[in-house]
Amino acid sequence: MLKLEKLVVKYGGITAVRGISLDIEAGDFAAIIGANGAGKTSTMNAIMGMVPASEGKVIFAGEDVTKLPTHLRVRKGMVLVPEGRRIFPNLTVYENLQLAAYFVSDWKQELDFVFALFPRLKDRLRQPGGTLSGGEQQMLAIARGIVAKPKVLLLDEPSLGLSPVLTQQIMAAIKEINKRGTTVLLVEQNAYAALKVATKAFVMELGSITLSGEPSMLLKNEHVRAAYLGA
Ligand SMILES: Nc1ncnc2c1ncn2[C@@H]1O[C@H](COP(=O)(O)OP(=O)(O)O)[C@@H](O)[C@H]1O
Ligand SMILES: [Mg+2]
Repeated sequence: MLKLEKLVVKYGGITAVRGISLDIEAGDFAAIIGANGAGKTSTMNAIMGMVPASEGKVIFAGEDVTKLPTHLRVRKGMVLVPEGRRIFPNLTVYENLQLAAYFVSDWKQELDFVFALFPRLKDRLRQPGGTLSGGEQQMLAIARGIVAKPKVLLLDEPSLGLSPVLTQQIMAAIKEINKRGTTVLLVEQNAYAALKVATKAFVMELGSITLSGEPSMLLKNEHVRAAYLGA
């Protein structure tokens, strides 16, 4: 469903992503774990066309989308929940959802699922997004992803700044989205949280994929344990 072929991302003289290849199949819950600066956000932004691929290809549903503008990728079903939430603080929760789904005529049909996942959002529909707590803002950011009716939902560090309990809740919600049939690609510094829910995982280090496999195997891997799990 989503395939990267030797993707390279450069910012001037800095190479952030060094020719990564990966293949995510329909229904997968894939996770890329990696430290700060590993190139996770650059990868996500290149998948969405928010930064250009210097080399390599992004293939979605069999189509080369490498040169396609971001909004057209979104219409094809590629949706990113960006790092740092990026909700509109002065718009209400409802308006945030409405705007995220501007091109989806039947987006309101998704609201029941959104409220089942995040009941708190239902009580706060008329409240400005900026008045929500950090965890609630992340819920809203993910809800914005859901109402856009993605085929593949990309999530960039949804656990950032959240407590362990909230992180667990958010990961459980993402798992529900995946179980409902949406393909998921999650990138996380919180390796443990991501490996607990994903069905396929990749380790990214200094712009390269250095390890991949079943999350349960990576949880037992010596290098992963030492570098990412504090074990
Ligand atoms: N806009 C930019 N201009 C220059 N360098 C950047 C830019 N964005 C990211 N980088 C650099 O690219 C590397 C990877 O960053 P990033 O993709 O944000 O990693 P991660 O999301 O894994 O923390 C880092 O060395 C970072 O400093
Ligand atoms: Mg990042």
